[in-house]
Amino acid sequence: MKNPFPAEVLGVRSVTKPGSAKETIHVDYSLEGSGLSYVTGDALGVLPCNDPALVDALISALGLDATAEVNAPDGSATTLRDALINSYDITTLKKGVLTKWNAVAGSEKLATILADKDALKDFCWGRDLLDLASDPEMKANFTDAAAFVGILGKMNPRLYSIASSPDAVPGQVSLCVGAVRYTSNERKRGGVCSTFMADRIKAGDKVKVFVHTNKNFRLPEDGNTPIIMVGPGTGIAPFRAFWQQRVADNATGPMWLFFGNPYKATDGCYEDEIAPLVESGKLKLSVAWSRDQEYKIYVQNLMEQAGDEIWEWLEKGAAVYMCGDANRMAKDVEKALLSIIATKGGRSEEEAAAYLADMKAAKRYQKDVY
Ligand SMILES: Cc1cc2nc3c(=O)[nH]c(=O)nc-3n(C[C@H](O)[C@H](O)[C@H](O)COP(=O)(O)OP(=O)(O)OC[C@H]3O[C@@H](n4cnc5c(N)ncnc54)[C@H](O)[C@@H]3O)c2cc1C
Ligand SMILES: NC(=O)c1ccc[n+]([C@@H]2O[C@H](COP(=O)([O-])OP(=O)(O)OC[C@H]3O[C@@H](n4cnc5c(N)ncnc54)[C@H](OP(=O)(O)O)[C@@H]3O)[C@@H](O)[C@H]2O)c1
Repeated sequence: MKNPFPAEVLGVRSVTKPGSAKETIHVDYSLEGSGLSYVTGDALGVLPCNDPALVDALISALGLDATAEVNAPDGSATTLRDALINSYDITTLKKGVLTKWNAVAGSEKLATILADKDALKDFCWGRDLLDLASDPEMKANFTDAAAFVGILGKMNPRLYSIASSPDAVPGQVSLCVGAVRYTSNERKRGGVCSTFMADRIKAGDKVKVFVHTNKNFRLPEDGNTPIIMVGPGTGIAPFRAFWQQRVADNATGPMWLFFGNPYKATDGCYEDEIAPLVESGKLKLSVAWSRDQEYKIYVQNLMEQAGDEIWEWLEKGAAVYMCGDANRMAKDVEKALLSIIATKGGRSEEEAAAYLADMKAAKRYQKDVY
């Protein structure tokens, strides 16, 4: 992260409808005066702030003075409350911070957990420092605010695929963000950065951002090349940038978007922008509403159904892009692609793998998965 720029928030709006199982927001930032530039396909780093309510609860559970002077990670003096809101990580539990905590707490329970790799992993999942401070068996009595801050790591930025083209909206950058919310250990929690953007920023605020170049996620140089974009959920983000870019370039290459989300009624994304592209024949759209029927329908099922046409596009030189969930979706979509190459292209498993490897080498198969 080099010199994050305090970008002005131009607006935050819902993408999905109220009641959506996939609460998704769209954020526009101004890059005016930043000197920052980006290329379609890049990501944006965002430095979030912690939820003030969580910070207050933590300070209170620790019995510390919110106004006590402490150092921020850059050495500047500030109050404990300000430092915990803006500069330190109070939500990620790892061996390092727990070891430092227990040097003060001297908890046998925590020492046992720390000594067992699996128990430690289990313990850290879905817990934060407030859980430690609220557990009588683990509570630490720090001598003062500075001693507590001394055990903390600094706030980490989060990356987001940029959902805009610099040629379509010069001086601006947009994100498409899924709000991470869950209940764990009987407390409702929010992902730091996604709920920072969903709940705690508004137009006019400044948020520290930086551009994270992603040379491995680029549109083909030739605007006539067909592109197939597979982006369920927030995986749609960079593809909004792609279609904006192609329109800005007057590029005529056919585009095919495979999108998926749970329910048609609430979970459509950018439908008002997609509809005119589909109507004008610039974009072919296949949507997998996964929960609108008794059985699941995912993007890869639609790809398999359209195998003949996908194979035709591949043979015409189409580039394939995939964005979104790395754990399950990316693996399943790749399997579907390999199966289409094998069955529709009359190739063995090994030949299909070689075909995809060649596409990758020619930058015709690119992934942005997380
Ligand atoms: C290159 C890249 C591009 C990305 N692009 C996008 C994008 O365009 N849009 C987007 O929305 N995201 C994107 N992400 C993901 C994004 O960076 C963040 O990881 C995401 O927003 C969550 O961050 P957070 O700060 O809200 O959550 P964090 O505060 O980081 O919390 C997440 C953590 O919460 C815990 N957790 C989550 N769910 C549960 C649960 N059910 N039970 C217990 N614990 C749980 C886990 O420890 C998890 O690691 C991208 C990531 C990368 C690497
Ligand atoms: N590493 C990180 O830092 C990080 C942070 C946040 C999110 N993520 C990942 O990013 C993903 C994107 O989140 P999101 O909420 O926008 O969307 P998502 O969870 O990927 O869901 C979008 C759609 O994909 C479907 N789906 C589920 N499993 C699939 C599979 N194996 N193949 C194809 N489609 C599948 C979902 O269906 P159903 O839900 O109906 O099954 C839903 O309709 C999350 O799944 C999460 O794993 C990673």
